[in-house]
Amino acid sequence: MFPAERTIRIVDHPEPRLEADTDVLVEMLDVGVCGTDREIARFEYGSPPPGSPCLVIGHESLARVLKVGPAVTRVKLGDLVVNMVRRPCGHPECRACSRNRQDFCFTGDFTERGIKGRHGFMTDRVVDDQRFMLVVPGHLREIGVLVEPLTIAEKALIQVWDVQERLPWTAAGVPAGSGHGERAMVLGAGPVGLLGALALLVRGFDTWVYSLESLDDPKARWVESVGAHFVSAATTTLAKAAGLIGNVDLIYEATGAAGVAFHALAVLGMNGVFVFTGVPGSRGPIELDAGELMRNLVLENQLVFGTVNAGADAFQAAADDLARFHARWPQQLGELITCRYAPEEAPALLTSPASGIKSVVSFAEVG
Ligand code: BGC
Ligand code: ZN
Repeated sequence: MFPAERTIRIVDHPEPRLEADTDVLVEMLDVGVCGTDREIARFEYGSPPPGSPCLVIGHESLARVLKVGPAVTRVKLGDLVVNMVRRPCGHPECRACSRNRQDFCFTGDFTERGIKGRHGFMTDRVVDDQRFMLVVPGHLREIGVLVEPLTIAEKALIQVWDVQERLPWTAAGVPAGSGHGERAMVLGAGPVGLLGALALLVRGFDTWVYSLESLDDPKARWVESVGAHFVSAATTTLAKAAGLIGNVDLIYEATGAAGVAFHALAVLGMNGVFVFTGVPGSRGPIELDAGELMRNLVLENQLVFGTVNAGADAFQAAADDLARFHARWPQQLGELITCRYAPEEAPALLTSPASGIKSVVSFAEVG
C-alpha cells in the first residue's frame, strides 16, 4: 500500500533475515482480509514504517516455521504459528507495554504489523521474535488463520468474566468458560460476530445473533446450525428481539454501526454487560434517548466497555477455543472461510466490497 501514490500493488520486497538470536523465520501460508485491511486499501487508515514509501498489508496470519535463531525455545521447525499484531511503544513509563500488554498501551505509540508503522504478513516470508508467535496445533492448518479475528472475542470475554466476578454467584467458584453463562446477544454476522457466537456457545450461553440478513440467508442458516438463534433485523425490532431472549446478560457488538449499537444498549438487561468491538466510520450524529440509557445504566447495574487488539493470553485462548470449535463443528468452522485467493489477486480483493464471510489470501496449497 503506497499512500503517497494511492496505489495497492505487488512489489518485490527484500527477504527478511534472522537478526536477533530469538528471531524466527516463517513461511506464510494464509492471510485473512478484514474491514481494517479494506480501510487501509482505501487509504483511510494505516501507515508505513518510518522511512518506507509503502506498507506491507495483512495482520491475520497463519505460517510455518522455516528457520530459528540459536536462542529460540518456544517454537521449532515445521510448527504452525500465528504472529501477533501489536508491538510495544517502547516508552519505559508505559505501564501496559512494559508488562507486554501493548493491547492496553497508554501512549498510542504502539505499532501494529500490517496496520500501523510496521510491515504485515501479506508476503512470502516473515521474521519475528519468538515472543510474538503463538504455536497452533497442526490439525488446525485449514482454519488457523481464524485465530486472530477470534482473539477479539477472547479478549472481550476475559474482561466480561473479570467484570462479572462482581456478582457474588458468578464469583462463587465456577471457573471462567465452564458454562455458567446465560443469555447473550451478538450484533452482526460478520466473522467477528460469528466467531464471537461460537465462543459464547462453548461457554454455555444461550446465544442470539441479531443481524441484517433475512432468515433464509446462508449466514442465518449457519447460525442455527451451530445451535444459536438468528433474529433478522429486517423483520424484528431490537425491543422484540429482547422480548424473545429474556434478560439480556451480555451484548457483544460486532457491527461497527453506532445506530444499531446504541439502540441495542437500550435493551441490555439487569446487571448486563455491553461490549463494543466495531470501529465506526464518521457518519455524522445519530439520535438517541440518552436519558433512558443513563437511567438503565444506573438502575440496572450495567457496564459498557470497548476492547481493541489482544494480548498473548487472548491469542492462546483463541487457539484453544478454535480446537474446541473444530471438534464440535468441523463442517461449520470450515464454512467461515468462504473464498481463497492467490496472492496475485490480493489487490483486487482488497479494493472490492466484502462478500461471503472470511476471504483468505493463500500462499500455499492447503493439505
Ligand atoms: C485488528 C487489531 C487492531 C485493530 C486496530 C483490527 O482489525 O484485528 O489487531 O488492533 O484493527 O488497528
Ligand atoms: Zn505503550
